[in-house]
Amino acid sequence: MCAACGRQGAVCFTRRPPWMSFTLTKREPVLMNSVASTAVPPRVRMRNIAKRYGAIQSLRGVNLEVAPGEVLGLVGDNGAGKSTVSKVLSGAVIPDEGYIEIDGKRVHFENPGDARVHQIEMVYQDLSLCDTVDVAGNLFLGREPMRRICGVPVLDLAKMHLDAREMLDGLGIRIPNTRLDVENLSGGQRQAIAISRAVSFDPKVLIMDEPTAALAVAEVEAVLDLVRTVSARGVSVILISHRLQDLFLVCDRISVMYEGQNVADRPIGETNLQEIVDLIVGHKFNARSARPTIEN
Ligand SMILES: Nc1ncnc2c1ncn2[C@@H]1O[C@H](COP(=O)(O)OP(=O)(O)OP(=O)(O)O)[C@@H](O)[C@H]1O
Ligand SMILES: [Mg+2]
Repeated sequence: MCAACGRQGAVCFTRRPPWMSFTLTKREPVLMNSVASTAVPPRVRMRNIAKRYGAIQSLRGVNLEVAPGEVLGLVGDNGAGKSTVSKVLSGAVIPDEGYIEIDGKRVHFENPGDARVHQIEMVYQDLSLCDTVDVAGNLFLGREPMRRICGVPVLDLAKMHLDAREMLDGLGIRIPNTRLDVENLSGGQRQAIAISRAVSFDPKVLIMDEPTAALAVAEVEAVLDLVRTVSARGVSVILISHRLQDLFLVCDRISVMYEGQNVADRPIGETNLQEIVDLIVGHKFNARSARPTIEN
């Protein structure tokens, strides 16, 4: 319950930040060291996570830590295991080995519902939206507001659209009509809806798998601002992306995966694009597409 507005946390946006400021500056980094020095456990600690699919060893002892409010960039080549490790954390995949701790306590997830109880939300690579359902319907899928007419429960459509509008406005997302079917929206708007839905569950940890992969420049910036917004609220964000330049704008730290293992972990101020590219491909790599486009 929010003390300021009296609403449940899931739809409370009283603490709404200024949105769309579009100042593409780097954030002050959240340091894992400061967590260690005050003996506060990390929000997420994954240890020795292994997962095999038949002949494919997808994960080989992955370790991952994220502090409260930290933005961790998770990178690696295609098939490195990024989606698999994030699905383990979101409860969609059960690991063969290893364990997860949330705020220092061991947890065991059998499904995404278990992870949601611990306020872990994931925006999947394919977004998992219902294309033929409207914006409000997607935001409230499975928890639609109801009202009673002559004792019979019916869908409270007016409330659902009002709450959807409040939710989108609170995150500064510009979608003119919550009655539009999601299939008619742009890639950026669809991504924003998937993120809003995840944020509306009031997560402590938000995992985003390739949120900017198919977006135009302005839409990418909107999603990056959304990352800044939620991390400023103390949400730990794990951001998987092949768009490395985006990571340098919002991440505190980058963790590199290679063939199912973590091979490096770098605070953002202590690395650069070229080093991350080299770590991703596993050797010194010199390609024009890998040359830095921003100053690090
Ligand atoms: N359900 C599955 N069944 C069989 N193999 C799988 C399954 N899920 C993942 N894998 C395999 O595990 C490995 C890691 O896949 P994963 O999707 O985690 O990689 P990724 O780092 O997310 O790659 P990308 O950047 O292409 O999204 C791949 O070899 C993939 O084929
Ligand atoms: Mg993936």
